Amino acid sequence: MPLTSLRQRPRRLRTSPVMRAMVAQTSVEPRQLVLPVFVAEGLTEPRPISSMPGVVQHTLDTLRKTAVEAAQAGLAGVMLFGVPATKDARGSGALDEHGILTEAIRAVRQEVGDDCLVMTDVCLDEFTDHGHCGVLTPGGAVDNDATVAIYAEMAVLHAEAGAHVVAPSGMMDGQVGAIRDALEAAGHVDTAILAYAAKYASAFYGPFREAVASSLQGDRRTYQQDGANLREALHEVALDLAEGADLVMVKPALAYLDVIRAVREVVDVPVAAYNISGEYAMVEAAAANGWIDRDAAIGETLTSIRRAGADIVLTYWALEVAQRRGGRR
Ligand code: PBG
Repeated sequence: MPLTSLRQRPRRLRTSPVMRAMVAQTSVEPRQLVLPVFVAEGLTEPRPISSMPGVVQHTLDTLRKTAVEAAQAGLAGVMLFGVPATKDARGSGALDEHGILTEAIRAVRQEVGDDCLVMTDVCLDEFTDHGHCGVLTPGGAVDNDATVAIYAEMAVLHAEAGAHVVAPSGMMDGQVGAIRDALEAAGHVDTAILAYAAKYASAFYGPFREAVASSLQGDRRTYQQDGANLREALHEVALDLAEGADLVMVKPALAYLDVIRAVREVVDVPVAAYNISGEYAMVEAAAANGWIDRDAAIGETLTSIRRAGADIVLTYWALEVAQRRGGRR
């Protein structure tokens, strides 16, 4: 029998692009996006990262240009990662006033002022020769409290250099509280903390290791979370908020969309999610092989992270997506 008088036809709201746009529940806007950028010491020209096609290690010069583009495109901010020329066991480059990351913060802040937020990764893995996110005990374990003390100093250095937002990503216990106390004591009361609150030990960080020239010995499972656990993420988030986090992040994004949703439902602060290197690489590799439609896959990826509940998305596609939208509105 033909369906002559169906009262409910959900397809009515999908009949045209304008109709679909009117009823779209989720949007991805430049103001919600943050571009992670890498800057390497001693480069004379940008160096491509082979496992992240289209992403480079910047020189200070090309970093400045990219930051200006980010501001013009209306992005929320840039997240800076420094790659020092030499690394050592204590990651001393991280506390060097004239180290690559500190210089990059100054350079970018000088270019963009307050038009684009300068965010910084507060972590030691870019600076240590063993690749861990902290300093080690004589026995080779990652020393929580000694590492936290270094993070606190690092955060103050970043704030002094012009960072608007510092983002501790090392998953050490007490890192947010120690950083908040240090910032307050140094008078940086307006420097915000974006806490990598729920950060999982993930295979999808692979390309990032190339991006920051890190040869990690071992793994990060004694400090990053086990992918089997959801409740633990809520516990970590609660602790970071109690310690003074202004914003909380879930990372990675795609394999943890349920965690983003769960966190969004229990906190009253903005939630960020990091669309990480391996998530970027998967789409780029499949697209390069002609296996998927690249632009559609990027749009679907970012929409899904927003739909899961992320208010803010860190993504290597931020600039491209924002420029496609025509910049600041
Ligand atoms: C730690 C840090 C990492 C990433 C961001 N901050 C690496 C790690 O924890 O292993 C990964 C980002 C990405 O994969 O895109 N400094």
